[in-house]
Amino acid sequence: METLNVGMIGYGFMGRTHSNAYRQVCNFFDLKRQPVLKVACGRDAANVAAFAKQWGYESSTTDWREVIARDDIDLVDICVPNNLHKEIAVAAAEAGKMVLCEKPLATSVADGREMVSAVEKAGVPNLVSFNYRRVPAVTFAKMLIDEGKLGQIFHYRANFLQDWTIAPDVPQGGPATWRLDAAAAGSGVTGDLLAHCIDTALWQNGSITQVNAMTETFIKERVHAETGQTQPVGIDDACTFFCRFGNGSLGNFESTRYARGHKALYTFEINGEHASIRWDLHDLHRLEWFDHNDAERLRGWRSIHVTDHGGEQPYMDHWWVPGLQIGYAESFVHQVADFLGAVEEGRTYGPTFAEALETQKVCEAVLNSAASGQWVDVTSGAG
Ligand SMILES: NC(=O)c1ccc[n+]([C@@H]2O[C@H](COP(=O)([O-])OP(=O)(O)OC[C@H]3O[C@@H](n4cnc5c(N)ncnc54)[C@H](O)[C@@H]3O)[C@@H](O)[C@H]2O)c1
Repeated sequence: METLNVGMIGYGFMGRTHSNAYRQVCNFFDLKRQPVLKVACGRDAANVAAFAKQWGYESSTTDWREVIARDDIDLVDICVPNNLHKEIAVAAAEAGKMVLCEKPLATSVADGREMVSAVEKAGVPNLVSFNYRRVPAVTFAKMLIDEGKLGQIFHYRANFLQDWTIAPDVPQGGPATWRLDAAAAGSGVTGDLLAHCIDTALWQNGSITQVNAMTETFIKERVHAETGQTQPVGIDDACTFFCRFGNGSLGNFESTRYARGHKALYTFEINGEHASIRWDLHDLHRLEWFDHNDAERLRGWRSIHVTDHGGEQPYMDHWWVPGLQIGYAESFVHQVADFLGAVEEGRTYGPTFAEALETQKVCEAVLNSAASGQWVDVTSGAG
């Protein structure tokens, strides 16, 4: 079997999910090329070497440029903080590598545009890791919408709620809390969490034309983990926005890291003319479905356990027997399977960098609207 050599930049949370996916994918999906874990890169030499040993990488390094300079690397996988995505992705594309980049694409629309032009100029396959698209129940929701089962869509609402930054002594910056440092993260919950909700929404329900947002930073100053200084906090701790979609439907999105009791509650609900759909990350195999075409006396919300093989429910025929579940990690296996499968067939598979730029534009318009207190047009209000 031909091989496909992977260079992994970053070995934290996402470095692990992606490494797991490359290791598993050929056990469950038929690909022509077997991913080989060639080199892992991170800042701390001893830690990245230990990671490489544990996960089966052939080598490790602390310099991502070394990874890109290697002739034997086919795919560069970017799993580092957001402010590093652009430089690494542009260099990887210029070196002719396939690029898989974690979300959000960049920390600004301007940087995102540079990344899109780099991959397009180089003609290299590219993907941004909005992995929730590959949860079977979420993919199934998209299939039902595309089949017209909901009819005209009126409402799209999504939440992504967490509670891990409520304590004022959580620092900003540094290896563990870079998400609270605007210089590393670009923004707070908007780029970190709402980007997922926006990507899913654009994919399922089409373009967003206008947004009206409010953000709040509840803790105004935090100690910086690297300098030890107390510094102003530049990220949004919470963000709520309304929007209009191009298809005439209305959107309502909320994200916060201050919702006590919620660790990672991503939910969406879509209300159409004939039916409604509801999904919840905490019960990710289920799609809640209400169909107004049901006989009146039987109408009610159904809870569909998306594990069927023969019934055109996605992905599950690659796994166990019907009725048995998979989980979060497998969304990344699907991502790699779909991406590499599409590359083998010469197809483009999304979200490409260009598609992820659309999400970046909505995020930027949201932040601009929160700053101005005005409705912002997504095309003119971003970047
Ligand atoms: N798709 C998802 O659901 C999802 C979930 C979490 C994070 N993310 C995204 O993944 C990316 C990484 O997040 P994470 O949670 O894995 O972070 P993390 O803090 O767990 O890991 C970051 C890694 O980057 C490495 N790194 C930092 N600076 C580096 C440098 N200059 N050179 C080489 N390596 C460097 C660190 O050593 C570490 O291994 C972010 O863009 C984040 O938004 C996506």
